[in-house]
Amino acid sequence: MAAMLENKRILLVIGGGIAAYKALDLIRRLKERGATVRCILTKAAQEFITPLATGALTGERAFTDLFDAQGEFDVGHIRLARETDLIVVAPATADLMAKMAGGHADDLASTVLLASDKQILIAPAMNPRMWEHPATRRNLAQLTADGVAVIGPNEGDMAERGERGIGRMAEPLEITAAVEELLPSAGAKPLAGRRVVVTAGPTHEPIDPVRYLANHSSGKQGHAIARAAAAAGAEVILVSGPVNLPDPAGVKTMKVTTAREMLAAVEKALPADVAIFAAAVADWRTEETKQKIKKGNGSPKLSLVENPDILATVAARKSKRPKLVVGFAAETDNVVGYAKDKRVRKNSDWILANDVSTQTGIMGGDHNKVHLITANDVESWPDQSKDEVARALVARIAAALAKA
Ligand code: CTP
Repeated sequence: MAAMLENKRILLVIGGGIAAYKALDLIRRLKERGATVRCILTKAAQEFITPLATGALTGERAFTDLFDAQGEFDVGHIRLARETDLIVVAPATADLMAKMAGGHADDLASTVLLASDKQILIAPAMNPRMWEHPATRRNLAQLTADGVAVIGPNEGDMAERGERGIGRMAEPLEITAAVEELLPSAGAKPLAGRRVVVTAGPTHEPIDPVRYLANHSSGKQGHAIARAAAAAGAEVILVSGPVNLPDPAGVKTMKVTTAREMLAAVEKALPADVAIFAAAVADWRTEETKQKIKKGNGSPKLSLVENPDILATVAARKSKRPKLVVGFAAETDNVVGYAKDKRVRKNSDWILANDVSTQTGIMGGDHNKVHLITANDVESWPDQSKDEVARALVARIAAALAKA
């Protein structure tokens, strides 16, 4: 395990929700990477996990009470707040978020959060209705404006039977990745000083006010690349189509809907050293009608108009062409052959080719198997997670820029 968090001190504030049990795994993951972890448990958290369990994993007693004479004598809440490199709140319940947004300080967790001037990362977890409640939206907007970084929540099944939606806490490894991005270790920043633009996700092309053309892209690969580039020290602009993913920490995310908006956002983001086009842009759009198309008038005909090719447009630029242009090729057959043609046709420096046939599970899934096609070479990478593909790509990009 690479000790990416060697010598880093993390204060983990554990809120009271069923996801608190995942905080135990999070402690292990952070420690595996070399971090020192201290824990504060709220009163509600202790309904789910014990100070004994967290203490055993961190190797240090867990802190629970603001008015605990021993705790105040040993460390004290002000030292807890200051003697850390990053504060992680996981799970961040609706109540903890509200307290943070309002500046409350009525227990140890909220007091330390208010007393600290360190970067804070929250991993919200709650019922989807609570997450969508206007009060939580307001608190989230306030926290983001205050500079708090947010990871998750993810979509999925809830602890309550039969409930699904956005509200599951991000997985411990996702939180660890966000921590690494916020605390990149010194010397491991091969893209420091570089500006990287990444496109991700599908585009939605409106047919009428209620319908659109789209595809199955989840945006996971593009978002993973944006995170990996940021972790490597780059200034990253992520131009993302509509996806169900949180904005990556430490990245400037521009949200767009259509291909034309995506092109405009990418052009606005230039100049850049590197541009990576991971989006599954809709190749066509229709002439949008202002009124909803009604049934009963026979089958409507959709006339399709070709969208601009964002990769080809940027790669063909005379001015502000990024030094390194990387495209993807989503193919279902003759993967490498078509991808090689695509590289030349679109004037892309590199192409990552993948097989998006339904049975591969790549589109929308968490893993990817790619071939890296450069001017003179084809490299076939093993099947790995999208995060691993992203890190491998970033390492290759850093090496190429260092040589150039
Ligand atoms: N791309 C783009 N703008 C488009 C279409 C594609 O920027 N309008 C980019 C994608 O982000 C990807 C690359 O071009 O990096 C190839 O995308 P792909 O869908 O594989 O190719 P297409 O050009 O759509 O060709 P085809 O569907 O005919 O294979």
